[in-house]
Amino acid sequence: INKKILLQQKIIKLKKQKNAVILAHYYQLPEIQEIADFVGDSLELSRKAAETEAEIIVFAGVYFMAETAKILNFNKKVLVPDVNAGCSLADGCPPDKFREFLKDYPNHKVVTYINCSAEIKTMSDYVCTSSNAVKVINSIPKEDKIVFAPDKNLGNYLIKETGREMVLWNGSCVVHEAFSLEKLIDLYQKNPDAVIVAHPESETHILKTAHYIGSTSGMINYIKSSPEIKFIIATESGILHKMKHEVPHKTLIPAPSKEDNSCACSECAFMKMNTLEKIYNCLLNEFPEVKLDRNLVDKARIPIEKMLQC
Ligand code: 13P
Ligand code: SF4
Repeated sequence: INKKILLQQKIIKLKKQKNAVILAHYYQLPEIQEIADFVGDSLELSRKAAETEAEIIVFAGVYFMAETAKILNFNKKVLVPDVNAGCSLADGCPPDKFREFLKDYPNHKVVTYINCSAEIKTMSDYVCTSSNAVKVINSIPKEDKIVFAPDKNLGNYLIKETGREMVLWNGSCVVHEAFSLEKLIDLYQKNPDAVIVAHPESETHILKTAHYIGSTSGMINYIKSSPEIKFIIATESGILHKMKHEVPHKTLIPAPSKEDNSCACSECAFMKMNTLEKIYNCLLNEFPEVKLDRNLVDKARIPIEKMLQC
């Protein structure tokens, strides 16, 4: 038996012993997705975190996702394989700066993308993910003015989709900004029968080329139900594991990035910080654990629950 399988078996045994559940995002390494109890996009993972009856949640994703799980389960232990697995969107929106920013926009409803810290969530009227953002914005009364943070690319997409004016925080995802329009057009010219699918965190010029725009799960469902057989995928490469499994007979081409590197598709370095070893160790030692202040959790839970009910 090889090392990977051995470690996977040890994790599975340990999580049974400890009544733990492993929640993993689609951007996690394939060997992590294989042992997870549930793999999903950020909305699905929040729903699973809210529903779980396990005593311990191991969150294989990035830190803001584990924080969201903790906010929804204050009395449960939420463990992360690596506390340094951040996110350029969450890290690019520091709470003190955001608080100052909001002073210029009194009487605005504050909508934040779930990719932000728990403290930013306490300043939010609504939280959304990429799969329900349009629905959340449309649920806000027309007369209300809106501030949207932290992703300007998703924000611009939402302005176009909903027709609502919004003040945007200037944040972005390093991974989804890495796609090259020039190379994408080149690739499409060589593959005119391909369908381009993109995550709404991508820049406007990339989204303009896309035939389908959606969340991680949205894209997986789209390529499954589409009669087409060739797709160019403009999102993080981890998604290909699930896609290849779902549609083994279809051709999936990663969208090219600006940098010339061996991996044509962008990888989220934060997501890839998690390894099987780190998962095993965090479960064994019950550390690192997400710890949040009770008052902060009580405030941050309100906009998240509003989203889960939307
Ligand atoms: P999803 O909501 O599609 O899971 O996106 C999360 C994310 O971080 C994308 O970069
Ligand atoms: Fe954050 Fe981008 Fe990584 Fe998603 S892909 S976790 S938005 S840095």
